[in-house]
Amino acid sequence: MADVSRPEPAGVPEPRRPPPSPPSGRDAEPDSATAPDLIAAPDTAAPTTPPSPPLLEITDLSAGYGPVRVLHNITLTVPEHGITAVLGANGAGKTTLLRTVSGLIRPASGTVALAGRLLNRRSVEDVARLGVAHVPEGRGVILELTVEENLRLGRRRDTRDRSALSAVYDLFPSLAARRSRPGSTLSGGERQMLAIGRALLAEPRLLMLDEPSLGLAPRVVARLMAVLADLRARTGLTVLLVEQNARSALSVADRVVVLSLGAVAVDGDAAAFASDDRLRHAYLGF
Ligand SMILES: Nc1ncnc2c1ncn2[C@@H]1O[C@H](COP(=O)(O)OP(=O)(O)OP(=O)(O)O)[C@@H](O)[C@H]1O
Ligand SMILES: [Mg+2]
Repeated sequence: MADVSRPEPAGVPEPRRPPPSPPSGRDAEPDSATAPDLIAAPDTAAPTTPPSPPLLEITDLSAGYGPVRVLHNITLTVPEHGITAVLGANGAGKTTLLRTVSGLIRPASGTVALAGRLLNRRSVEDVARLGVAHVPEGRGVILELTVEENLRLGRRRDTRDRSALSAVYDLFPSLAARRSRPGSTLSGGERQMLAIGRALLAEPRLLMLDEPSLGLAPRVVARLMAVLADLRARTGLTVLLVEQNARSALSVADRVVVLSLGAVAVDGDAAAFASDDRLRHAYLGF
């Protein structure tokens, strides 16, 4: 089992635009512009916290592979400084959605916008430059390179600053202890941490993670979710978290989107969805 235990981190790379006020976790007021269709907002929402504007806006998006249409008229928003979980059965289209946002797939119709700027006619490199970091399924760690070399690949080209690297090591001390080892010697949990650390070094505005818990032991998954919640709380990072592990994702998410057969079946407050036995059972089976 991977050892990803850590002391309180000293700091992490700041997102390019710090939050005007720290988010208040799962009780944060939902964005009124994207009020859930199926789920009522919780009574506990703090009335004084202004809703965050959406960072990512997906409108009427259809996409797929060649003639095969996978996503059908997806409309959703990802509020800034929050964690939005995307859940759904195998084949629902979760990975296809992330690939379309990051520019790997060109949409057949519809738009994807980051802070008001259209992404869907841009290259993968341009989308990354605008602030979208995509950690794909399978993690993408280069096994022949050391931990530190892998991390350096993620840095924005213009930075020679070691403090960002140090901040990632503070966040993931087990990587610091292994900085000179090849990626091939890392456990699954450590590889996931490395992939996330590398993505953070690009100083993204939006971090997209595709099934980060896949194949990890429950203790490691819990540690990973805690790191995400911690990052969000301290830096205001915006996270789009695709997960099969719905329980873990719901434990840290502010909002939830459930995809079913390539369409949005649920879009709402994560805590309200998690506590709604009927909806949860209907869409997630538990
Ligand atoms: N390269 C491809 N070419 C053709 N069809 C594909 C391709 N990749 C995925 N698909 C199909 O698109 C649909 C959605 O796949 P996708 O990988 O987006 O689902 P997912 O929700 O991420 O599933 P999982 O939970 O298993 O990762 C599936 O029916 C899949 O077979
Ligand atoms: Mg997938």
